Amino acid sequence: MSLERFVAELDSFYLDAGTSLASAGDAAAVEVARVEFLGARSGRLKGIQKTLGALGASDKPAAGKRFNEVKEAIAALLSNAQARLIADPSDPATDAIDISLPGIPLRIGRLHPITQTIRRVEEIMGRLGFESVDGPEVEDERHNFEALNIPPEHPARDPLDNFYVATASRGGPLLLRSQTSTVQIRVMECRKPPLRIVSIGRVYRPDTADATHYPMFHQVEGLMIEPGTTMAHLKSVLRYFASSFLGGDVRVRFRPSFFPFTEPSVEVDMEWGGRWIEMGGAGMVDPAVLTAVGYDPNEVSGFAFGLGVERIAARRWGVADIRDFYRNDIRFLEQF
Ligand code: DAH
Repeated sequence: MSLERFVAELDSFYLDAGTSLASAGDAAAVEVARVEFLGARSGRLKGIQKTLGALGASDKPAAGKRFNEVKEAIAALLSNAQARLIADPSDPATDAIDISLPGIPLRIGRLHPITQTIRRVEEIMGRLGFESVDGPEVEDERHNFEALNIPPEHPARDPLDNFYVATASRGGPLLLRSQTSTVQIRVMECRKPPLRIVSIGRVYRPDTADATHYPMFHQVEGLMIEPGTTMAHLKSVLRYFASSFLGGDVRVRFRPSFFPFTEPSVEVDMEWGGRWIEMGGAGMVDPAVLTAVGYDPNEVSGFAFGLGVERIAARRWGVADIRDFYRNDIRFLEQF
């Protein structure tokens, strides 16, 4: 056998073994390649080694050196392939992971009760065709007050009763919105009636936290603008909402009240478990509000309402202190 022939055989061995090991997709394929190429009894390398003795004495040192180089290179590729597959825990043929061991239990979380409440309100109101829309939490005075017919001397505009933010925009001072009624204005400014929307989100007032107050809380705002809308529609919608949300036949009561952006205005009470609870305010949208957004009050009318999310959530679950919603105590939150 000539040296050239010997080297050529080594080269093709190297190519075949290298290709097989690189493409072996699982531990079984690596083992098949190992036996075929490096097997101690009938592997291809063993066969090549046997032909070494048939070489001339002067060729032997070079041939032996080349043989050892190829042998080491393939041994390295073999251990690489083994390491690669062992590192892949998705391969059940490797025993890197014992799949019979019990897993590490995960603590299953859940949605925050306020988030659950918001989703439920959206779902119930959606059945009546009310679309859920969002508005900004940093507002200007037009949307938080002026277009809602709240004049500058109104106590709700007292700077001490609002979170004004330091930077004034070119359009005037900015504040954290104190009510979601802002979204009524934002929607009416850019859409034409008919409209049925709810907007649920955070509002901010500098109140001292106690069992029924928190400087940040959530409101549901509802608005329906459609020809022929009356207080009877308002009451039906609120009653449907209350019955669906609290379960059972919940009665709804209106008491005369005043809000700058509705006329007439009412306080909304709901009876549940034998008790009347005040849930929010409502009324027919004031003509001044319709005019402020460019609607003609002689042509369109509608109702609006505002409910406190924490209040209806507390009612539904019997939570006595709304601060519990924000303490992030897992023992409390786990109950919902
Ligand atoms: N924005 C009122 C508040 O924060 C709640 C409210 C009352 C909203 C009457 C309304 C409404 O849409 O018609 O106290």
